[in-house]
Amino acid sequence: MAFHRENQTIYLITGKGGVGKSAIAAALAQKKASGGAKTLLVELGDQSYYKYIYNQEINYLPTQIKKNFSISLWSGETCLREYVLHLVKVKKIVDLFFNNRVMKTFIRAAPALKELAILGKITSGIRGWGPPLDFDVIVVDGFSTGHFIALLRAPIGMGEMIKSGPMGEQCRKIIEVLSSEKFCKYSIVTLPEELPVGETEELKKDLKATIGQSANIICNRIYPNPFSEDDLVQILSDEKSLSANSFAEHLNEIYTREAEQIVKLQEISNDITKLPFLFTADGQIVVDELEKILQ
Ligand SMILES: Nc1ncnc2c1ncn2[C@@H]1O[C@H](COP(=O)(O)OP(=O)(O)O)[C@@H](O)[C@H]1O
Ligand SMILES: [Mg+2]
Repeated sequence: MAFHRENQTIYLITGKGGVGKSAIAAALAQKKASGGAKTLLVELGDQSYYKYIYNQEINYLPTQIKKNFSISLWSGETCLREYVLHLVKVKKIVDLFFNNRVMKTFIRAAPALKELAILGKITSGIRGWGPPLDFDVIVVDGFSTGHFIALLRAPIGMGEMIKSGPMGEQCRKIIEVLSSEKFCKYSIVTLPEELPVGETEELKKDLKATIGQSANIICNRIYPNPFSEDDLVQILSDEKSLSANSFAEHLNEIYTREAEQIVKLQEISNDITKLPFLFTADGQIVVDELEKILQ
Protein backbone atom coordinates (compact mmCIF):
# COMPACT_ATOMS: atom_id res chain seq x y z
CA MET A 1 0.00 0.00 0.00
CA ALA A 2 1.30 3.49 -0.82
CA PHE A 3 1.68 5.98 2.00
CA HIS A 4 1.71 9.74 1.86
CA ARG A 5 4.56 10.39 4.31
CA GLU A 6 7.08 7.60 4.39
CA ASN A 7 9.38 9.56 6.70
CA GLN A 8 7.10 10.25 9.68
CA THR A 9 7.60 8.37 12.94
CA ILE A 10 4.95 8.11 15.63
CA TYR A 11 5.96 7.34 19.22
CA LEU A 12 3.14 6.15 21.47
CA ILE A 13 3.70 6.23 25.23
CA THR A 14 1.49 4.30 27.63
CA GLY A 15 1.60 2.72 31.11
CA LYS A 16 -0.15 2.91 34.46
CA GLY A 17 -1.41 6.30 35.71
CA GLY A 18 1.18 8.46 37.46
CA VAL A 19 4.28 6.57 36.33
CA GLY A 20 5.67 9.48 34.28
CA LYS A 21 4.15 9.05 30.80
CA SER A 22 3.57 12.77 30.24
CA ALA A 23 7.01 13.78 31.52
CA ILE A 24 8.74 11.14 29.39
CA ALA A 25 6.67 11.92 26.27
CA ALA A 26 7.64 15.61 26.62
CA ALA A 27 11.31 14.73 27.21
CA LEU A 28 11.36 12.49 24.14
CA ALA A 29 9.65 15.17 22.01
CA GLN A 30 12.13 17.84 23.19
CA LYS A 31 14.99 15.48 22.41
CA LYS A 32 13.74 14.80 18.87
CA ALA A 33 13.17 18.54 18.29
CA SER A 34 16.68 19.43 19.53
CA GLY A 35 18.04 16.81 17.13
CA GLY A 36 16.45 18.75 14.23
CA ALA A 37 13.22 16.79 13.66
CA LYS A 38 10.06 18.84 13.30
CA THR A 39 8.17 17.41 16.27
CA LEU A 40 4.59 17.49 17.49
CA LEU A 41 3.84 16.42 21.05
CA VAL A 42 0.22 15.30 21.34
CA GLU A 43 -1.80 14.92 24.49
CA LEU A 44 -5.08 13.06 24.32
CA GLY A 45 -8.23 14.07 26.16
CA ASP A 46 -10.01 17.26 27.19
CA GLN A 47 -7.52 18.68 29.70
CA SER A 48 -4.00 19.87 29.03
CA TYR A 49 -1.20 18.90 31.40
CA TYR A 50 1.48 20.63 29.34
CA LYS A 51 -0.07 24.06 29.69
CA TYR A 52 1.26 24.01 33.28
CA ILE A 53 4.68 22.74 32.21
CA TYR A 54 5.18 25.24 29.38
CA ASN A 55 2.92 28.08 30.63
CA GLN A 56 1.13 28.29 27.29
CA GLU A 57 -2.43 27.63 26.20
CA ILE A 58 -2.59 24.27 24.43
CA ASN A 59 -5.40 23.63 21.96
CA TYR A 60 -6.31 21.39 19.06
CA LEU A 61 -4.13 23.27 16.58
CA PRO A 62 -0.40 23.07 17.33
CA THR A 63 1.08 25.71 19.67
CA GLN A 64 4.73 26.28 18.87
CA ILE A 65 6.81 26.15 22.06
CA LYS A 66 10.27 26.49 20.52
CA LYS A 67 12.11 25.71 17.32
CA ASN A 68 10.85 22.43 15.82
CA PHE A 69 8.65 21.77 18.84
CA SER A 70 4.86 22.17 19.01
CA ILE A 71 2.11 20.73 21.20
CA SER A 72 -1.51 19.83 20.45
CA LEU A 73 -4.36 18.61 22.64
CA TRP A 74 -6.64 16.20 20.79
CA SER A 75 -9.95 15.16 22.29
CA GLY A 76 -12.22 12.56 20.71
CA GLU A 77 -14.79 15.17 19.88
CA THR A 78 -12.40 17.67 18.25
CA CYS A 79 -10.90 14.89 16.12
CA LEU A 80 -14.36 13.70 15.13
CA ARG A 81 -15.45 17.24 14.25
CA GLU A 82 -12.44 17.67 12.01
CA TYR A 83 -13.08 14.32 10.38
CA VAL A 84 -16.69 15.19 9.58
CA LEU A 85 -15.72 18.70 8.43
CA HIS A 86 -13.22 17.19 6.03
CA LEU A 87 -15.98 15.01 4.59
CA VAL A 88 -18.74 17.62 4.53
CA LYS A 89 -16.59 20.74 3.90
CA VAL A 90 -19.23 23.14 5.27
CA LYS A 91 -18.55 24.20 8.86
CA LYS A 92 -22.12 25.37 9.51
CA ILE A 93 -23.54 21.95 8.70
CA VAL A 94 -20.91 20.27 10.87
CA ASP A 95 -21.81 22.58 13.79
CA LEU A 96 -25.50 21.79 13.30
CA PHE A 97 -24.69 18.10 13.19
CA PHE A 98 -22.62 18.17 16.42
CA ASN A 99 -24.94 20.50 18.32
CA ASN A 100 -27.99 18.42 17.52
CA ARG A 101 -29.37 16.75 20.66
CA VAL A 102 -29.80 13.33 19.06
CA MET A 103 -26.29 13.45 17.58
CA LYS A 104 -24.81 14.48 20.93
CA THR A 105 -26.38 11.42 22.56
CA PHE A 106 -25.20 9.22 19.72
CA ILE A 107 -21.61 10.46 19.96
CA ARG A 108 -21.58 9.96 23.71
CA ALA A 109 -22.96 6.45 23.31
CA ALA A 110 -20.42 5.46 20.69
CA PRO A 111 -16.99 5.87 22.27
CA ALA A 112 -15.41 3.74 19.55
CA LEU A 113 -16.26 6.51 17.10
CA LYS A 114 -14.25 9.06 19.07
CA GLU A 115 -11.39 6.62 19.47
CA LEU A 116 -11.41 5.92 15.78
CA ALA A 117 -11.31 9.66 15.10
CA ILE A 118 -8.29 10.07 17.44
CA LEU A 119 -6.36 7.25 15.76
CA GLY A 120 -7.47 8.55 12.38
CA LYS A 121 -5.91 11.90 13.27
CA ILE A 122 -2.70 10.38 14.67
CA THR A 123 -2.15 8.37 11.48
CA SER A 124 -3.52 11.01 9.09
CA GLY A 125 -0.12 12.38 8.00
CA ILE A 126 1.15 8.98 6.93
CA ARG A 127 -2.16 8.05 5.29
CA GLY A 128 -2.37 11.44 3.58
CA TRP A 129 -5.95 11.91 4.76
CA GLY A 130 -7.36 15.22 5.96
CA PRO A 131 -5.49 18.45 6.76
CA PRO A 132 -1.71 18.09 6.40
CA LEU A 133 0.15 16.91 9.49
CA ASP A 134 3.51 18.25 8.51
CA PHE A 135 5.83 16.83 11.19
CA ASP A 136 8.75 14.40 11.07
CA VAL A 137 7.99 13.04 14.52
CA ILE A 138 4.76 12.74 16.48
CA VAL A 139 4.99 11.82 20.16
CA VAL A 140 1.68 10.76 21.68
CA ASP A 141 1.28 11.02 25.43
CA GLY A 142 -1.13 8.10 25.38
CA PHE A 143 -3.95 6.97 27.61
CA SER A 144 -3.11 4.66 30.48
CA THR A 145 -3.16 0.89 30.17
CA GLY A 146 -6.78 -0.31 29.74
CA HIS A 147 -7.96 2.78 27.91
CA PHE A 148 -4.98 2.59 25.57
CA ILE A 149 -5.81 -0.98 24.55
CA ALA A 150 -9.47 0.02 24.06
CA LEU A 151 -8.24 2.86 21.81
CA LEU A 152 -6.26 0.44 19.62
CA ARG A 153 -9.16 -1.99 19.46
CA ALA A 154 -11.55 0.64 18.05
CA PRO A 155 -10.46 0.42 14.39
CA ILE A 156 -10.15 -3.36 14.64
CA GLY A 157 -13.74 -3.76 15.90
CA MET A 158 -15.06 -1.18 13.49
CA GLY A 159 -13.16 -2.70 10.55
CA GLU A 160 -14.63 -6.13 11.30
CA MET A 161 -18.11 -4.63 11.45
CA ILE A 162 -17.80 -2.58 8.26
CA LYS A 163 -16.23 -4.75 5.61
CA SER A 164 -16.82 -2.61 2.55
CA GLY A 165 -16.88 1.08 1.64
CA PRO A 166 -14.52 3.94 2.48
CA MET A 167 -15.01 3.64 6.27
CA GLY A 168 -13.94 -0.01 6.35
CA GLU A 169 -11.03 0.83 4.07
CA GLN A 170 -9.91 3.65 6.41
CA CYS A 171 -10.05 1.34 9.43
CA ARG A 172 -7.79 -1.12 7.68
CA LYS A 173 -5.31 1.61 6.71
CA ILE A 174 -5.24 2.93 10.28
CA ILE A 175 -4.50 -0.58 11.56
CA GLU A 176 -1.83 -1.03 8.93
CA VAL A 177 -0.03 2.13 10.12
CA LEU A 178 -0.43 1.25 13.81
CA SER A 179 0.97 -2.24 13.31
CA SER A 180 3.91 -1.10 11.18
CA GLU A 181 7.25 -1.15 13.01
CA LYS A 182 8.52 1.43 10.57
CA PHE A 183 5.90 4.05 11.46
CA CYS A 184 4.86 3.33 15.04
CA LYS A 185 7.00 2.73 18.14
CA TYR A 186 5.34 1.82 21.41
CA SER A 187 6.79 2.40 24.88
CA ILE A 188 5.40 1.22 28.19
CA VAL A 189 6.45 3.33 31.17
CA THR A 190 6.67 1.64 34.55
CA LEU A 191 8.15 2.11 38.00
CA PRO A 192 10.44 -0.50 39.58
CA GLU A 193 7.56 -1.65 41.78
CA GLU A 194 5.54 -4.85 41.90
CA LEU A 195 2.12 -3.58 40.73
CA PRO A 196 3.21 -1.50 37.74
CA VAL A 197 5.68 -4.20 36.69
CA GLY A 198 2.88 -6.80 36.76
CA GLU A 199 0.69 -4.48 34.73
CA THR A 200 3.53 -3.89 32.26
CA GLU A 201 3.84 -7.61 31.60
CA GLU A 202 0.11 -7.87 30.84
CA LEU A 203 0.10 -4.73 28.72
CA LYS A 204 3.05 -5.90 26.68
CA LYS A 205 1.21 -9.14 25.87
CA ASP A 206 -2.01 -7.25 25.08
CA LEU A 207 -0.17 -4.90 22.72
CA LYS A 208 1.38 -7.83 20.90
CA ALA A 209 -1.99 -9.56 20.64
CA THR A 210 -3.89 -6.42 19.60
CA ILE A 211 -1.56 -4.75 17.14
CA GLY A 212 1.30 -7.23 16.74
CA GLN A 213 3.93 -4.81 18.06
CA SER A 214 6.65 -5.30 20.68
CA ALA A 215 6.76 -2.35 23.04
CA ASN A 216 9.99 -1.28 24.64
CA ILE A 217 9.94 -0.65 28.38
CA ILE A 218 10.95 2.53 30.18
CA CYS A 219 11.55 2.00 33.88
CA ASN A 220 11.21 5.40 35.51
CA ARG A 221 12.09 6.76 38.95
CA ILE A 222 14.82 4.31 39.85
CA TYR A 223 16.42 5.47 43.08
CA PRO A 224 19.95 6.65 42.41
CA ASN A 225 22.37 5.09 44.85
CA PRO A 226 24.99 7.57 45.98
CA PHE A 227 26.49 5.08 48.44
CA SER A 228 28.96 2.36 47.70
CA GLU A 229 28.44 -1.00 49.39
CA ASP A 230 31.30 -0.04 51.75
CA ASP A 231 29.59 3.26 52.66
CA LEU A 232 26.41 1.42 53.58
CA VAL A 233 28.23 -1.22 55.61
CA GLN A 234 30.06 1.52 57.46
CA ILE A 235 26.87 3.45 58.29
CA LEU A 236 25.14 0.24 59.31
CA SER A 237 27.97 -0.69 61.64
CA ASP A 238 28.16 2.72 63.27
CA GLU A 239 26.41 1.98 66.54
CA LYS A 240 26.38 5.59 67.67
CA SER A 241 24.30 6.85 64.76
CA LEU A 242 20.95 5.08 65.15
CA SER A 243 18.86 7.18 62.74
CA ALA A 244 21.46 7.08 59.98
CA ASN A 245 21.66 3.40 60.68
CA SER A 246 17.97 2.72 60.16
CA PHE A 247 17.90 5.03 57.15
CA ALA A 248 20.68 3.06 55.53
CA GLU A 249 18.74 -0.12 56.23
CA HIS A 250 15.63 1.40 54.69
CA LEU A 251 17.58 2.44 51.58
CA ASN A 252 19.06 -1.01 51.36
CA GLU A 253 15.56 -2.51 51.32
CA ILE A 254 14.46 -0.11 48.58
CA TYR A 255 17.47 -0.96 46.41
CA THR A 256 16.91 -4.68 46.90
CA ARG A 257 13.20 -4.47 46.01
CA GLU A 258 13.92 -2.30 42.96
CA ALA A 259 16.65 -4.67 41.77
CA GLU A 260 14.19 -7.60 41.99
CA GLN A 261 11.64 -5.74 39.86
CA ILE A 262 14.28 -4.74 37.29
CA VAL A 263 15.26 -8.42 36.98
CA LYS A 264 11.57 -9.22 36.33
CA LEU A 265 11.45 -6.54 33.62
CA GLN A 266 14.57 -7.99 32.01
CA GLU A 267 12.79 -11.33 31.81
CA ILE A 268 9.94 -9.67 29.90
CA SER A 269 12.06 -7.57 27.54
CA ASN A 270 15.63 -7.01 26.44
CA ASP A 271 14.86 -3.41 25.48
CA ILE A 272 14.69 -1.47 28.74
CA THR A 273 15.50 2.20 29.29
CA LYS A 274 16.26 3.09 32.90
CA LEU A 275 15.55 6.58 34.22
CA PRO A 276 16.49 7.85 37.66
CA PHE A 277 14.34 9.37 40.36
CA LEU A 278 14.98 13.12 40.19
CA PHE A 279 14.99 15.07 43.42
CA THR A 280 12.78 17.94 42.32
CA ALA A 281 9.07 18.71 42.41
CA ASP A 282 9.30 21.04 39.38
CA GLY A 283 7.68 19.34 36.37
CA GLN A 284 9.61 21.45 33.85
CA ILE A 285 12.95 20.52 35.44
CA VAL A 286 11.91 16.85 35.42
CA VAL A 287 11.23 17.04 31.66
CA ASP A 288 14.51 18.87 30.90
CA GLU A 289 16.57 16.46 33.00
CA LEU A 290 14.91 13.41 31.46
CA GLU A 291 15.61 14.84 27.99
CA LYS A 292 19.33 14.96 28.83
CA ILE A 293 19.31 11.36 30.07
CA LEU A 294 17.32 9.80 27.19
CA GLN A 295 19.48 8.16 24.53
N1 LIG B 1 12.05 10.49 37.01
C1 LIG B 1 11.30 11.27 37.76
N2 LIG B 1 11.77 11.80 38.92
C2 LIG B 1 11.01 12.59 39.69
N3 LIG B 1 9.74 12.94 39.39
C3 LIG B 1 9.21 12.46 38.26
C4 LIG B 1 9.94 11.62 37.38
N4 LIG B 1 9.13 11.30 36.32
C5 LIG B 1 7.96 11.92 36.54
N5 LIG B 1 7.99 12.62 37.68
C6 LIG B 1 6.90 13.40 38.27
O1 LIG B 1 5.89 12.49 38.65
C7 LIG B 1 4.60 13.05 38.46
C8 LIG B 1 3.78 12.15 37.55
O2 LIG B 1 4.35 12.15 36.26
P1 LIG B 1 3.44 12.25 34.94
O3 LIG B 1 4.36 12.40 33.79
O4 LIG B 1 2.38 13.29 35.10
O5 LIG B 1 2.77 10.79 34.98
P2 LIG B 1 1.61 10.19 34.05
O6 LIG B 1 1.52 11.03 32.83
O7 LIG B 1 2.04 8.78 33.78
O8 LIG B 1 0.36 10.22 34.88
C9 LIG B 1 4.82 14.45 37.87
O9 LIG B 1 4.78 15.38 38.93
C10 LIG B 1 6.24 14.37 37.30
O10 LIG B 1 6.88 15.63 37.28
MG1 LIG C 1 -0.16 12.12 32.09
